[in-house]
Amino acid sequence: MSKIVVESSPPLRGTVRISGAKNAVLPVIAASLLSGQKCILEDIPFLNDVEVMSEVLVSLGADIKKLSNMRMEVNSRNIDNYEAPYELVRRMRASFLVLGPLLARMGKARISFPGGCAIGTRPIDLHLKGFSALGAEITMGHGYIEASAKKLKGDRVYLDFPSVGATENIMMAAALAEGRTVIENAAEEPEIVDLATFINKMGGCVKGAGTDTVKIDGVKELKGCTHTVIPDRVEAGTYMVAAAITRGDIIVENVVINHLMSVIAKLKEAGVIIQEVENGLRVYAPERVKAVDIKTLPYAGFPTDMQAQMMALMSVARGTSVIIETVFDNRFMHVNELRRMGANIKIDGRSAVVQGIPELTGAPVKATDLRAGAALILAGLAARGRTEITDVYHIDRGYTDIEKKFQSLGGKVYRI
Ligand code: EPZ
Repeated sequence: MSKIVVESSPPLRGTVRISGAKNAVLPVIAASLLSGQKCILEDIPFLNDVEVMSEVLVSLGADIKKLSNMRMEVNSRNIDNYEAPYELVRRMRASFLVLGPLLARMGKARISFPGGCAIGTRPIDLHLKGFSALGAEITMGHGYIEASAKKLKGDRVYLDFPSVGATENIMMAAALAEGRTVIENAAEEPEIVDLATFINKMGGCVKGAGTDTVKIDGVKELKGCTHTVIPDRVEAGTYMVAAAITRGDIIVENVVINHLMSVIAKLKEAGVIIQEVENGLRVYAPERVKAVDIKTLPYAGFPTDMQAQMMALMSVARGTSVIIETVFDNRFMHVNELRRMGANIKIDGRSAVVQGIPELTGAPVKATDLRAGAALILAGLAARGRTEITDVYHIDRGYTDIEKKFQSLGGKVYRI
């Protein structure tokens, strides 16, 4: 199993280009099942998760071609199977996003209960509530969920929590349903907007994406289209924190600034200087950052996917920071690993109290989930000595060429 080794690094300098968003491309690939024609997807990050989602679609009968290094072609003309492979769905929770489009296209779908990283119990009750509201018959057994419906009919669905996945799954099912579907208390993330843009490009009719009420008027069929996914706001935030923790001065290119408002605000509050430049953001942090409090919330609140990275930064900030995780019920597994590096963190339920210390020390640590792994790299950059990170497959799920990108900024990050 490969490891990532991080040595104490000088202040990061240089420019890093952000890749397409993992959490936008996964639902967009799933939505390609809605059309019987060719879809060309651009600015695709070729991550493990994208490979897994592609394998799921191929197992359903879709034809996927990797074009140049960031383009792929998906053709779901001949999908002939409504059952997603058990092992693949267990491996990656996002594969559950094929349920909605399969149900809409084939009238039936059979999927295993989703797996996914360990950040808390990841229920799917809101997804199923939506499919039932559209008239689907849901049965469960032997580790599978089966949904069937001769014809889905639009209806109103209230989400008890603005779940990103549930909003996406229901939106995709509703795209080919009869009549109008209204999703209330919908998730407002930029990735939801990107999915709606993609469905509308295919000839769908989705309105209100990005607000808490999304209206979908079903159509008879959807065509193929070409779509460039939005840049990855979480990857961008990760490199911004890397500049802050090493007191560096970098340019982060290919970002949608509007998607990063809460991250920019928090880093500025901590004393980081952030300026809009030609094709992105300049992030300049000459001083040791100040401690700031963080509370993760659904968009446009501070993103839960940036919580671990901010905790690494707060571990070496001036002062005490309170970090509250409201989205997931077990997203503090990076705390123990940061403690191995000397971090002073106390957990009380959903809150973590972080007493900033002047310097962390490198240690052997483990990536427990995708963003926790990224946080450990950030901590290693600023720590004295050498940090060895195992279970790096978590990191590869969400970050393309992470060691190369850090090396290009002067970061001493190596894969062995
Ligand atoms: C998406 O996961 C992202 N993944 C996650 O990113 C992200 O952390 C999360 O949204 C929140 O922003 C992808 O887009 C592939 P949710 P998802 O459904 O859809 C509860 C990363 O690091 N819930 O919004 O699974 C659930 O328990 C990953 O890139 C229900 O109660 O997240 C959780 O507490 C990690 N019932 C909360 O909602 C349901 O039916 C948020 O989950 C569904 C969810």
